[in-house]
Amino acid sequence: MNPLERQLIEEIRASGPIGVDRFMGAALAHYYGSRDPLGAAGDFTTAPEISQVFGEIIGLWGADRWQRLGGPLPLKLIELGPGRGTLMADLLRALKVLPALRQAVEVHFVETSPTLRAAQAQTLRHRHPDLTPEWHDTLAQVPAGPMLLVANEFFDALPIRQWLRRGEHWRERRIGLDGTGALAFVAGPVGVPPIVPLVATDGDLFETCEPALAIAGEIGRRLTAAPGAAVLIDYGHGRSAVGDTLQALKGHAYAPVLADPGEADLTAHVDFDALGQALGAAGANVAALEQQGRFLIDHGAELRLDTLLRGKDETTALALKTGVRRLLDPMEMGRLFKVLAATSPERSPL
Ligand SMILES: C[S@@+](CC[C@H](N)C(=O)[O-])C[C@H]1O[C@@H](n2cnc3c(N)ncnc32)[C@H](O)[C@@H]1O
Repeated sequence: MNPLERQLIEEIRASGPIGVDRFMGAALAHYYGSRDPLGAAGDFTTAPEISQVFGEIIGLWGADRWQRLGGPLPLKLIELGPGRGTLMADLLRALKVLPALRQAVEVHFVETSPTLRAAQAQTLRHRHPDLTPEWHDTLAQVPAGPMLLVANEFFDALPIRQWLRRGEHWRERRIGLDGTGALAFVAGPVGVPPIVPLVATDGDLFETCEPALAIAGEIGRRLTAAPGAAVLIDYGHGRSAVGDTLQALKGHAYAPVLADPGEADLTAHVDFDALGQALGAAGANVAALEQQGRFLIDHGAELRLDTLLRGKDETTALALKTGVRRLLDPMEMGRLFKVLAATSPERSPL
């Protein structure tokens, strides 16, 4: 039994079952705080680590948004959960198409993991030594002003609560102890989820993520207060719907969710319906949800690949093509991953 598991079991013995959000929050704080989980040697990989084209296309999208916003300067480039800083470094490379913008950006990382903060610092020092990023624990700490905000696979790492439909009521699903003293799911007291799905029947499970709603509201308020645009990419669903999506990944394979807390990645699908409503309620202009593959193709991913392929040897060309195909192919990441974009309210629709 690992120390975090022992601590959670003691907490449950002392005060009773805990929420899934408490478990997920504690497990992920330890997980991200103690390692770099990305890449072949880690537990999972992400789009920016698969192909440079991902960050470059987000950068071109951002450059286009910035022009449509009237070119406000200085511009804050804000990334939530930046991993190794690869997306930001690729995005900045693409911004070279607009030198006036590239020279007047400020980079702000919202990151809680000291290990990944160090990795981000190293990436930027190496690839964009003229820039001095600032780090923040929360978005609320980033100074106000015109912004381009990016978040890739950030919202799926925020703690969720789970709700069980029992007859006419919802009961919060909690984590207690089974007969052997091990962590186990239990049904908690009757409660009211902060949002509810349109359709739910006896036995269904519904997930809510209050931190995600709060952060989307904060993004929306910022977009209303100053010119800006935001792009949120993650895997999830376009309509709030029932289903158990909490999963653990360890060494690129699924693992039992409650086993070895803090040693596996825990994620849940993002409810883009709820995120879009939170952004819109705060005043932002929210675009229709798009599939990642469609979004990247529409913004030039295939053209960029063609340019990259010029003059490359066969092995390099194959690696470049394989990476981009993984991002675009509907059978790989192209359909599962979705893109939600939002901009300041007075601007024309996206
Ligand atoms: C799945 S990784 C995605 C990394 C990166 N965006 C990428 O695409 O490679 C999640 C990132 O969010 C960070 N993170 C997780 N929970 C966070 C929180 N509550 N506040 C800030 N950052 C968080 C992690 O440390 C990590 O950098």
